[in-house]
Amino acid sequence: MPLNQSDIFRLEHAGYSYSQGEPALSDVSLSVATGERVCILGANGCGKSTLLKIFAGLLFPQTGSFAAFGEPLSRSRCEDDSFAGEYHRKVGFIFQSPDVQLFCSTVRDEIAFGLLQQDLPDSEVQSRTADVMRMLGIESLAEKTPFRLSGGEKKKVAIAAVLAMNPGVLILDEPTNGLDPRTQSWLVRLLDALHSAGKTIVCSTHDLSLVTRISDRAILFSEEHTVAADLPTADLVRNVPLLKSVNLIDDGIPFACTAPSCYNQKSGPTNDDGTVTECRS
Ligand SMILES: Nc1ncnc2c1ncn2[C@@H]1O[C@H](COP(=O)(O)OP(=O)(O)OP(=O)(O)O)[C@@H](O)[C@H]1O
Ligand SMILES: [Mg+2]
Repeated sequence: MPLNQSDIFRLEHAGYSYSQGEPALSDVSLSVATGERVCILGANGCGKSTLLKIFAGLLFPQTGSFAAFGEPLSRSRCEDDSFAGEYHRKVGFIFQSPDVQLFCSTVRDEIAFGLLQQDLPDSEVQSRTADVMRMLGIESLAEKTPFRLSGGEKKKVAIAAVLAMNPGVLILDEPTNGLDPRTQSWLVRLLDALHSAGKTIVCSTHDLSLVTRISDRAILFSEEHTVAADLPTADLVRNVPLLKSVNLIDDGIPFACTAPSCYNQKSGPTNDDGTVTECRS
């Protein structure tokens, strides 16, 4: 692939296997440029989460290469605390399962945690924490223990903790899973607003009703753990034979199709002028 100055992430012939030895990613070459809005699509187990963890600097390809912001990203570089801290400030990652992400004793501490690592003044940490809790409509959870929350509440806290850091690149693994329709709608429109503000957004999903709302480009993985197609999203969702071939449609039933109408609700996460509203009933 020719080098593009605006590339944020770049994988060349990358492969990754977990300890059991089966490939999770096989010969993957792709890049993501600044300001793009990309969706990673594919059936269960095809490697979406593995790819996103590589982007997040949590896993490292065992074959091929990976560069972030124009520099090779290796395990040894990420073992340097100051490098890793800086990287995680630039690249926010929301895990597929919020249980992996949440570890503090209260929701407020959870959201403040990343900000405290930046040595910001206490007043700023408190105000940014309060702002993001208000945005997500989770102020009433502030003093609760994250691991005692419902799945959807945990997901909101995990999203809040990453948004509080205001990273330039947002990586979201199945972001709408477990969220009720109002919160899904709010999140979709929030992603629109963040993209308009210049953020780079990479999401994984198997939800074909969601993908055209949250991405302009779709990278489709096959069940052989490699890239099957890399297309404008609008073209990809119309290509039924291709979607069938990778097990995203079977006998006319799309994978995880939720009601698309919920994305058109006026009560979503932005005001008429496009600014972000609070997410609440
Ligand atoms: N921690 C792990 N240890 C061993 N194997 C793993 C681990 N995590 C994932 N795998 C395997 O790696 C492959 C890719 O998994 P991955 O989680 O990346 O898929 P995915 O596309 O995100 O799937 P899903 O749609 O179910 O979230 C699968 O075969 C999976 O079983
Ligand atoms: Mg996954």
